[in-house]
Amino acid sequence: MNTKGKTEQDSVRRVALIGFGTVGRAVAKILSEDRERGLRLTHICNRNVERKKQPWVPEDVIWTDDVQLVLRADVDIVIELIGGLTPAEQIVRGALQSGKSVVTANKQLIARHGPDLLQLAASHGCRLEFGASVAGGVPVLPALRTGLCGDRLHGIAGILNGTCNYILSRIENARIPFSEALEEAQARGYAEADASEDLDGGDARAKLAILALAGLHTRVVPESVRARTIRPIDAVDFDYAAELGCTIRQISRADLKEGTLFADVGPCLVPIDSPFGRVQRNLNLVLTSGQYAGDMAFLGAGAGGDPTAVAVVSDLIFVAASLSAEAGKASSVSRAEMSGDFETPWYLRFFVRDRPGIVARLAEILGAHHLNIDSLLQKPGFDKAALPFVITLEPCRDSVLRPALEKMAELDFSIRPCLCLPILR
Ligand SMILES: NC(=O)c1ccc[n+]([C@@H]2O[C@H](COP(=O)([O-])OP(=O)(O)OC[C@H]3O[C@@H](n4cnc5c(N)ncnc54)[C@H](OP(=O)(O)O)[C@@H]3O)[C@@H](O)[C@H]2O)c1
Repeated sequence: MNTKGKTEQDSVRRVALIGFGTVGRAVAKILSEDRERGLRLTHICNRNVERKKQPWVPEDVIWTDDVQLVLRADVDIVIELIGGLTPAEQIVRGALQSGKSVVTANKQLIARHGPDLLQLAASHGCRLEFGASVAGGVPVLPALRTGLCGDRLHGIAGILNGTCNYILSRIENARIPFSEALEEAQARGYAEADASEDLDGGDARAKLAILALAGLHTRVVPESVRARTIRPIDAVDFDYAAELGCTIRQISRADLKEGTLFADVGPCLVPIDSPFGRVQRNLNLVLTSGQYAGDMAFLGAGAGGDPTAVAVVSDLIFVAASLSAEAGKASSVSRAEMSGDFETPWYLRFFVRDRPGIVARLAEILGAHHLNIDSLLQKPGFDKAALPFVITLEPCRDSVLRPALEKMAELDFSIRPCLCLPILR
């Protein structure tokens, strides 16, 4: 008997792919083209699978639309790439319960059920990896799992939604209205027809929940993170932001302080020459802050079939190696009190029907709430019937500012709700 041959055979991990769409196809391509990685693609599963078959897939791969057949098969690792919660959750649970490790790129699933699924994986001696679920091809989750796990992280902030970043950087560079930038993003395939999840922060807060789980070891229910929309951002806000040395980006941030997790998602002013300020188009950037190593930055393609597939295959390689080394272990996860009550300077943009006494009235309300004005910006040349101007405030807590904003919302000279953005320095 050739014992050397047998050992090599045993070390090859059998891999089944469920979901042959944008990412699944790119993963299958890598696994089919490069068979020297100790991974053998054995099954491809998709609904109505006949129309999906590709000549470049090796002949010994079984094409099927029967998920149960895959879950019963002799495979070591299942890749879930169908997306959404149903039936992805049942598939992932079924795979883990039958002792198969799982690699997924599914942010909804991990943001909602990540801690339970990690526990399930550990109790069955297998692994669950989800490196592609945040920032696509940018290896930030693997970095949190390995390269930074020796630090004690207390903060994570990121540009996590390429659609928002594309739209904001287009308004910034071309000074076009929000609606035009959205249409352009949709025409180029960077935004879906219904882009609400992206624009209103739902997508980014699911990703922030996963980063908080992986980097801050804290369980976050995505809906408990306050999300503000980018829809009211106007080209004029970039003019005023520039006067303050800033631009505007959708930022997702989580800071762990004395057992409370301060977290929110939404448009913020950021210095124009800062890492966030320099991120253009649909790129993603994640910054981490640690007690020992300080700040780290991860920048790259947050989406796209090929970059995301690289993250999936990297997870596969990691799982294959760790299956040989040891059974899965769940790292401990704790719950923190949640808060969106950051203390920051603020940018308040008003659109008013001009008349004497407006600034005095606003200053009176701010003063009554013990809020200090830092600057007042008003560009010349605007129509007095729709005059934009900006007040910036010295740092204060969101909870102190809110009652003042409610009072201002009652004023009859405002023709749009006041846009209120944190200024990150
Ligand atoms: N695309 C990216 O850039 C990117 C980046 C990061 C993470 N991700 C994540 O990666 C995952 C896959 O994304 P994707 O862009 O590849 O999606 P996709 O192109 O829509 O592919 C999904 C595939 O799964 C199949 N499918 C859906 N429901 C199924 C079911 N119940 N049973 C069997 N097959 C089913 C679909 O078949 P049909 O052809 O019949 O619809 C399709 O082939 C998602 O979780 C996504 O959030 C994607």
